[in-house]
Amino acid sequence: MLCHGEGLLSPLTALLALALALSRSPALACLVPAGLYLALQLLALEPAAPQSAQRVLRPRGAAARIAHRGGAHDAPENTLAAIRQAAENGATGVELDLEFSADGVPILMHDDTVERTTDGAGRLQDLTFEEIRKLDPSAKHRLRSQFQDEKVPTLREAVVESMHHNLTIYFDVKGHANQAVDALKQLYQEFPQLYNSSIVCSFMPDVVYKMRQADRNVVTALTHRPWQLSHLGDGTPRFNSFWKHFLYMVMDVILDWSLHSFLWRLCGVSAFLIQKNFVSQDYVRHWSSRGIAVVAWTVNTFAEKSYYESVLDCSYMTDSLLEDCDPHY
Ligand SMILES: *[C@@H]1O[C@H](CO)[C@@H](O)[C@H](O)[C@H]1NC(C)=O
Ligand SMILES: *[C@@H]1O[C@H](CO)[C@@H](O)[C@H](O)[C@H]1NC(C)=O
Repeated sequence: MLCHGEGLLSPLTALLALALALSRSPALACLVPAGLYLALQLLALEPAAPQSAQRVLRPRGAAARIAHRGGAHDAPENTLAAIRQAAENGATGVELDLEFSADGVPILMHDDTVERTTDGAGRLQDLTFEEIRKLDPSAKHRLRSQFQDEKVPTLREAVVESMHHNLTIYFDVKGHANQAVDALKQLYQEFPQLYNSSIVCSFMPDVVYKMRQADRNVVTALTHRPWQLSHLGDGTPRFNSFWKHFLYMVMDVILDWSLHSFLWRLCGVSAFLIQKNFVSQDYVRHWSSRGIAVVAWTVNTFAEKSYYESVLDCSYMTDSLLEDCDPHY
């Protein structure tokens, strides 16, 4: 990783030195890190019970195999058919993307537009649930002829289907923090077994923090891809302007440092979901010694999977349980 979090001591010491250099007043300089430390202690959320985290993250006492978007290579992503297929193919869990229709119905969809996966067009925020329900989520899939009559599922339908197959659920929440927290909180109330069999994950620390504020028993994870602000998943820079690129690279360093030094504590997460190129044996050990699991995404070749299972003993997400395929970012 860009910077390993060695506890809080080193960042606070660095901050103390910086404050001292800027203010030239020892008393004032001590107040800044002391204040931050106190704020962190007061605001930090206790992590979920280690036993529930363990049940969720190592469901059969071993590294988990999670079908990314339900296994997007083997079946149309984020559909009930994908969930069934994942169970049949030996996944221990599914990762599902939460989105909302214009009229506020929680559904499974990765993008905030429907073009890439369905035969429709437009943004979710402009489409009602009734309109979305008429679309075909298999329309663009390579195996569409085998998956006819699929509908975009509601979050609840997907949860029921996953529980029916004893699959662990990784809820991926991209935004709409308040709406998502409300929808998930209701689900945990309706199906308390989800505390033992699901985890709420997000790139956005505010989503994770709000989820745990709403319900401390929910197991959560921070999702991360180093350099995500300045670079696309395949490594190309996001911006053409040199200064903008540089600015976002600086923000990437700050984000990476923040996640690994204090945000994980503040949110009380139980796991990090990390893009696989940044996972090493050291990284897995470093976090496991702090009681934090590492889950890699997306691990799509047979050779990589056996390395994760037998050498790293580390859970992973994959697009296919059946064959090698291209990675997703
Ligand atoms: C799920 O687990 C329960 C209890 O362990 C078991 O009875 C049931 O057969 C399992 N269902 C499936 C579909 O594997
Ligand atoms: C979680 O699993 C444990 C052990 O099987 C069980 O005692 C507990 O009741 C479960 N909790 C919920 C909310 O289902």
